Order: sequence, then C-alpha cells, then structure tokens
Amino acid sequence: MIRTLVADLHRHVGETITIAGWAQTLRLQRALQFVVVRDHTGAVQVTHRRDGADLDDLLDGLSAESAVRVTGQVVANPVVSLGGLELIPTSVVVENRAETPLPIDANTGPEGRQDWRFLDVRRRPAARLVFAVQTTVEQAMRSFAYAHGCTEMHTPKLMGTASESGAEVFEVGYFGRPAYLAQSPQFYKQLAIAAGIDRVFEVGPVFRAEPSFTSRHATEFTGVDVELAWIDGVEDVMDFEERMLAHVLASVEAEHGAALAEHFGAKVVVPTVPFPRVTMAEAQRIAGGGDSSRDGDQSPPGDASRGDLDPAGERAVAAWVRERTGHEFAFVTEYPASVRPFYHLRPAGSPRLTASFDLLWKGLEITTGAQREHRYDVLLAQAAEKGLSPEPMRWYLDCFRYGCPPHGGFGLGLGRMLMVLLGLDSIREATFLFRGPNRLTP
Ligand code: 4AD
Ligand code: MG
Repeated sequence: MIRTLVADLHRHVGETITIAGWAQTLRLQRALQFVVVRDHTGAVQVTHRRDGADLDDLLDGLSAESAVRVTGQVVANPVVSLGGLELIPTSVVVENRAETPLPIDANTGPEGRQDWRFLDVRRRPAARLVFAVQTTVEQAMRSFAYAHGCTEMHTPKLMGTASESGAEVFEVGYFGRPAYLAQSPQFYKQLAIAAGIDRVFEVGPVFRAEPSFTSRHATEFTGVDVELAWIDGVEDVMDFEERMLAHVLASVEAEHGAALAEHFGAKVVVPTVPFPRVTMAEAQRIAGGGDSSRDGDQSPPGDASRGDLDPAGERAVAAWVRERTGHEFAFVTEYPASVRPFYHLRPAGSPRLTASFDLLWKGLEITTGAQREHRYDVLLAQAAEKGLSPEPMRWYLDCFRYGCPPHGGFGLGLGRMLMVLLGLDSIREATFLFRGPNRLTP
C-alpha cells in the first residue's frame, strides 16, 4: 500500500489514498465521527458520516495516539480548519491501539515528559524539529570539515586509563579490571595527528561523571571534535571554528529558518567572521561587576579567584561584547595555565598563560579549544607541574617522541549548541534521551 504524507494531501484532491499516523483527537458525534490523524508532516481531519456499518464501531473504539492507517478520498472543504481538506474514509486499520488514559498530557512536568519521552516527542512537532535541526547542524559541520581536508575518525570510548585528568570519569568493569569511559577524544585525536592524519573530525559520545544538576550539564553528550596539524598558532583553530559555525548557521537558516520562527520564535542570525575575541584578563575585568546570584542553576560559586569565568561571568562578557559589536559569539582567549590542562601550549614568554580559548554563544560555553604542547620535554614538565605521573599515559606521551607536528583543535558540545540555537531552557530538551546523575532510563 502506497503511503501518502499528510503534507502532500493537497496534491491528491479527489483521489483515494492511504495515510499512516496517529489518532490525535477524536470527536465522536451522533451523526458524524471526526478523527484528526497526525503524521510527522502534519495533521488532517478524517470525517465519517455514520452509516450503521463496521467503521462506525471501529472509530467509536479508537483512542488517542493509536497508530492507524486510513484509506479514503481527499476532499477539499474550506470549512475545515486543517488546511481546508478532509479525508472521507473507506477503511481504517488500527495497527496498535493506544491504552487509555495516556500517561502524559499538556500539564506534565519535565521529569514526567522524560519518563515518557517517546510520547512527548511524538506529540510535539517542536520537539521533533530539534532533531531535524540537529541533523542539519551535523551535516553542515561534516560537509565543512570534509571540504577543509578533515578525515572523520572514530576513536575508542573504552580506555585503560582515565583521559586527561582522571577526575569525572566513569569506571566500568572490564574482564576483571577497571576501564574508563572516555571523557573526551582528546588524546586519541592527537594520536591521529601523530599518525599523519592531517586534520581530524569526530562526532561521538562523551562521558562525564559530574554530579551536576544544571540546565547545561549531561553525564553523556555528543561531542564534535576537530584537531588540525601544522597550525601556526591557536588563531588558526579559532578561524576554522568560526567559519565552520557561520556555514552551519547559514545552512540552518536556509533549511529551517521559517519553522524555527514558527515553533520557537527563534531568529537564526548567521554570524559574521571573525568573531570578537576577548582575552581572559579583559574578561575578568568585565566580569568583575558580574553578579553570580543571577546564575539560576546553582553552579558552584565563581572561579574568578582561580582565573576562570563562572557562568555569570560568561554572561557578563557576552553582554559586553554584544553591546559593543552586536555579535552573539565571543572567543575568550589566553586562559591562565592554572585552570587549563597540562597539554595546552603556553605562549613563548608567557608561562602562566595558555594558547587556548573558550567560545561563548549568547553567554554559554559551547567550545573549549587550544594549541597543544607538541614538544615532549615541555609536555613532561607541564604534566609534572600538574602532579600527573607519566606512566599511565605513556602511550600518549610517546607520540611526542617521534616527530609530532604542531597542532591544535577544539571540542564542541552538540546539545549546548542546539540549546542556544533554539533558545531551549535546558540541554534535556536538546537531547533525545538525556543522561544525568538521576536519569538512566528510558
Ligand atoms: O570544555 P570541554 O571539557 O573540553 C574538552 O573536552 C577538551 N578536550 C576539548 C578540546 O579540544 N580542547 O568540553 C568541550 C565542550 C564544552 O565546551 C561544552 O560545550 C561541552 O563539551 N560539554 C558538555 N556538554 C554537556 N554536558 C556536559 N557535562 C559537558 N561538559 C562539556
Ligand atoms: Mg570547557
């Protein structure tokens, strides 16, 4: 049976066709039975005049969200509010009847919607739009990366030693010994650089054992990672990222601009390049007047004393940049070495700084990036300074002993990016199945 999508029905007026979808609402009157059927492209009214035959009973027995196929004639009827069309059914097949009552309704809170995420997403076109936009974002990132010489890699998510710092890693059983879930593809993408893969692109899961309950933290999220060899400096990395994001947002605007305005009231601004840059020292001055009590999600008190920015500081910097330049994005550069990992390169003559950056979008960190230290002896010294023992990461350090080119890259959180793009309150809404400290199902 050929299925016609609801969005295409206007091209079939007068014809008998079959649609497949869910019974959204039922109005079963004495003479007429109305069932609004929704598929992923829209909704249409099915109108049946009772005639004493089987279809009367079948429709009387239907329930909201049952999966149905309806065959009937498409009729133009200007009185019908749903597109001026209705379907006069000749047969209805109930593929799967929905139990009643439904476990969620329009008043269900966020946790209940998470519990019944498939119904939540199915019933809200806006929720499904998130994943259509995500598809465009990923596709545009991938096409930009390919066009700029990247090779897409898939690095292991099981590791014998904790990546980067050792904090915030999940330990899992591995044939009688511990293994760890990768909290970043960082070391492996650098290994790919050492393997002569000139530019690395990866989209994959990232695991963080952070007991954070904020609107922007998940324990598992999708990371987009890029690593570029033979760079002249960290500027090359920022330049790549800003051009990538401009391309991504132009693609989103072209493909979903109208739908985003309709469902989210969101206007996609295609950013100009270069994005504004603010050094950390400047950012500290700007954020000095910041008020951390505005951070509604109760993250720990400001890191300003350590030379980092807290969320309120990030928002203050973003507001300052926006006021002066009109730009939604801001690179914060030259983070102090004290708040950055040992592998960030320190600029010549500035041992207390790093050639690193965060990218803020509307005041939220969506990326951290850096030039990496590729000189073995310097890297060892920086690891030692951070109190890290070289032995567990010997395999990583070894790749700097046999001809590693200068390189740098960045990691971007896909959920964070969607959250800002769509103006969502929480990363939970930007993720199909959220993982947090209290959420391992569905
Ligand atoms: O800032 P992060 O921790 O940086 C790294 O992982 C580096 N190895 C990247 C690099 O190439 N230097 O993570 C990168 C991005 C963040 O900017 C943020 O967008 C996102 O990943 N992110 C999270 N998203 C959701 N939940 C969390 N708990 C996240 N932690 C980081
Ligand atoms: Mg970061």
